[in-house]
Amino acid sequence: MVAYYSLYFLFMKVTIDNISIDVPAGTTILNAARLIGGDVAPPAMCYYSKLEGSGGKCRTCLCEVSKGSEKDPRPMPKLVASCRTTVMDGMEVKNMTSDKVIDARKGVVEFLLLNHPLDCPVCDQAGECDLQNLSYNHGNEGTRYEFPRRTFEKEDIGPFISLHMTRCIMCFRCVFTAEQLTERREHGILERGDHAQISTMLNKALDNEFIGNVIDVCPVGALTDKTFRFKNRVWFTKPVDAHRDCPTCSGKVRLWMRGPEVFRVTARKDEWGEVESFICNDCRFHKKETKDWVIEGPSNIKRSSVISQGHYQHTVKSPVYIDRVIGKEPKFLMNIHDVSDVNKPEIELSKIDGPSHSDDFKVK
Ligand code: SF4
Ligand code: FES
Repeated sequence: MVAYYSLYFLFMKVTIDNISIDVPAGTTILNAARLIGGDVAPPAMCYYSKLEGSGGKCRTCLCEVSKGSEKDPRPMPKLVASCRTTVMDGMEVKNMTSDKVIDARKGVVEFLLLNHPLDCPVCDQAGECDLQNLSYNHGNEGTRYEFPRRTFEKEDIGPFISLHMTRCIMCFRCVFTAEQLTERREHGILERGDHAQISTMLNKALDNEFIGNVIDVCPVGALTDKTFRFKNRVWFTKPVDAHRDCPTCSGKVRLWMRGPEVFRVTARKDEWGEVESFICNDCRFHKKETKDWVIEGPSNIKRSSVISQGHYQHTVKSPVYIDRVIGKEPKFLMNIHDVSDVNKPEIELSKIDGPSHSDDFKVK
């Protein structure tokens, strides 16, 4: 009985965007939303579940708490950072159903882009950049900022990692990674406020065994892989899961290949864009031959990702819960066949597996 009661009190019921879930006490709103999944989970640019102390810096995960708890149902007066706010029993939260959140998030994106150059066409992170995705999904078209953008002296931080300080959004993830994964941290954030910058202080090379992981945790193109730099666009390469017997790390990686050539090695990422297990520099930078690896097969890539272009058969659909959020099936705004007979009306485009092709409409 005692065990039953303690278990009972350890769980809290929270409702996010009209979907209820029971989660252990101490769970943050963001992680509760991730348990529901799909678009109910707010975007997160600085929180990283594998890094202690992360979160609370970028404000992209803002949510509206419309009911504080069963005991105290008053709404929270301001939007809260969902990665840093734990759930209460009976709490009700609005993410994509809140106009305030959608509006505030536009402001956050505008703020994150204040000094960020629009150099996506030449940035190695393009196609897998969280900021690029965030601005497409939540951003405004323009900016109100009129002042000169920040510029930096180019800094060489070693043979394997390239730093583009203008692209940094000060999420602190790379600093936590170096602090928590490597034996000594040689870089950090210098200065304060709008003078803050990532630096190695004495221009020391970042050459710890696990330091390459800062590339994977960086949500933008501020830290990129020098061995892959300008070699290929990510959507032209094919991601393949592979492993090797590595004495230092798990050896479970993702190879980015074009034909038989391995262009890049990264850690595997989960559906939230987080590394599944950190890998060592040897696997990442020195094992660029297919013979170094046991190939497991094509990686699962979100269907919405530009990387899935050309290899749809191994993509996964993101769960979207529009019907559960609004309480009914979404209504078609327009049926294309009402206004056009270009395609055969009996073919439902949404049911075609992968991109539609002229063959789908050929008279058999
Ligand atoms: S370099 Fe990347 S990971 Fe490091 S603080 Fe800047 S944006 Fe974050
Ligand atoms: S993800 Fe919550 S503040 Fe950055």
